[in-house]
Amino acid sequence: MSEQNKSWKALVQSKMSRRTFLRGIGISGAGAVAANALPSSLLVAAAPALAAASAAQQINLPFTPIEPSSADDLILPEGFTYQVVIKRGDVFTPDGRVMGDNVDWMGWFPIDYLEGGNSQTEGILAINNEYFNPLFVSGWTGGQKTLEQIKAEKAMVGISHVHVRREGDRWVVVADSPLARRYDATDPIEFSGPVAGADVVNGATSVIGTLANCSGGITPWMTNLSCEENYQDYYGEDKNNLGGGYEWFENGGQDQGQIPEHYGWVVETDPYTGRAVKRTALGRFRHENVATAIGKSGKIVMYMGDDKRDECVYKFVSAGTYDATNREANLNLLDEGTLYVANFGRGTWVPVVWEGNEEVLGNPSKVGGYTIASQADVLTYCAQAARALGGTRTDRPEDIEIHPQTGDVYIAFTNNSNHGNFHGQIVRLMEADGDPEATQFNWDVFAVGGPQSGFSSPDNMSFDTFGNLWMVTDVSTSSLNSGIYSFHGNNAVFMFRTEDAGTGVATAYRFGSAPVEAETCGPTFIGTDTLFLNIQHPGEESESIDAPTSTWPDGPGTLPHAATVAITGPFNQNGPFPHYAFFDARKA
Ligand code: FEO
Ligand code: CA
Ligand code: CA
Ligand code: CA
Repeated sequence: MSEQNKSWKALVQSKMSRRTFLRGIGISGAGAVAANALPSSLLVAAAPALAAASAAQQINLPFTPIEPSSADDLILPEGFTYQVVIKRGDVFTPDGRVMGDNVDWMGWFPIDYLEGGNSQTEGILAINNEYFNPLFVSGWTGGQKTLEQIKAEKAMVGISHVHVRREGDRWVVVADSPLARRYDATDPIEFSGPVAGADVVNGATSVIGTLANCSGGITPWMTNLSCEENYQDYYGEDKNNLGGGYEWFENGGQDQGQIPEHYGWVVETDPYTGRAVKRTALGRFRHENVATAIGKSGKIVMYMGDDKRDECVYKFVSAGTYDATNREANLNLLDEGTLYVANFGRGTWVPVVWEGNEEVLGNPSKVGGYTIASQADVLTYCAQAARALGGTRTDRPEDIEIHPQTGDVYIAFTNNSNHGNFHGQIVRLMEADGDPEATQFNWDVFAVGGPQSGFSSPDNMSFDTFGNLWMVTDVSTSSLNSGIYSFHGNNAVFMFRTEDAGTGVATAYRFGSAPVEAETCGPTFIGTDTLFLNIQHPGEESESIDAPTSTWPDGPGTLPHAATVAITGPFNQNGPFPHYAFFDARKA
């Protein structure tokens, strides 16, 4: 089989070298290479928990790794504590709007940024509210849904700009702040770029609401990017497939011309002005996140994953260049540029464009039955177009992060049950000549999930100021603490040293363990001692509000709440990020 047509599994296998395999055995003993559903070449043994703990002492980790846990609490290493900053239902804006449910992405915006400052004690936390648990927010358990219930649910998704300030050891919410803002499924949002006004979106230049906001990113001009992921759950997949698990459409909740094509985009919000815009040049798919670098000619490059089984990895390269001295000049940079899809077999970025590809893309049988006749159509039905043009179908790309010093692009492929990839991998992509604008790349496998490494199903990631990679896991609740996932305990927070890159056996150090049935999201380091972290869907398997499976964070007799916490302790960070540590190939 030619390299370019290999399956994702075959490609990953071919990257795992024999040398790596032997080294793995040497570290952890042959016994660690246990029975596993992955192909044998993926059974690369990194150090298990005990070896990780002793290695931690040798390399001066700022924490002693913890053991897996199934406790209904956020468990942290000795010396670290957490406080809840805000949780579902808390009022946090002057006009009385409330925090949504199931918090995911989080970004820090210093309060004094526009004046040239970089405050690490006061700022806006831009937080995504991905979805909601009907049992907890509207009481819906099936059957006819009332408009009141739909209204309650629409208030639980979207984006929250929460103004926070440090007072002594505590982080407090500044609720009377004009910068505290809420964008839920009912707020009008600008719609810009190549798809604005097109027939495929019924001519929309403004749309109602944002939803399914999963992970996200920050731009170098300090705006917030929020990614609409599982949009199909709300109004359906497309105009010909209306519906969705929350049954808003079926029960009359689609009252202002909403169509599925209005969702599935990247939303740019400005924490300092409140402007909110859907940027259609970045394509429409199950957007997980955006990771940004600056290319050698000054173009903005944004890496993105389509988090659906067998979907692709993308990058957007802006037409214009970034001007660090003029914020205003960057505010519409994301409206024009080229979207590429990754072909991992050839190591090439393939332009996802109508021009020159009319024959393939104009043939409905090659693009999932869709009628595609323009670039607006290509961007709207992006996954189908990208696959037809040679994008490699992968194992669910979740978060992507760029090493701020090396420019290496780390991609968390969480798992894919279609192909027996139960525990996922973290892959490292290296652009040709170290230039994010390049059209060719190489890649290798950084870390492999499974019992031998101690983690499974990597999701959100973040770099600390030492260049260590932090990663949180998202083993699905139905699998947690059972069967082949028993080794993992609850979902957890891990740290990797990127010095381990290139060995294929990066060691995972367990830092935190989530409450029952929760995942942790949006790790964000601030100052020298704080890590903000979101706790998503604790107790999500609860079948009645009388007997929730978790009572985090308020304890017995209460319902579980998704919440944002501040973890403080001796992280001993190098100090504040320079606003945010973007890789800039012009300076590398
Ligand atoms: Fe919402 Fe792909 O996680
Ligand atoms: Ca995710
Ligand atoms: Ca991230
Ligand atoms: Ca997740």
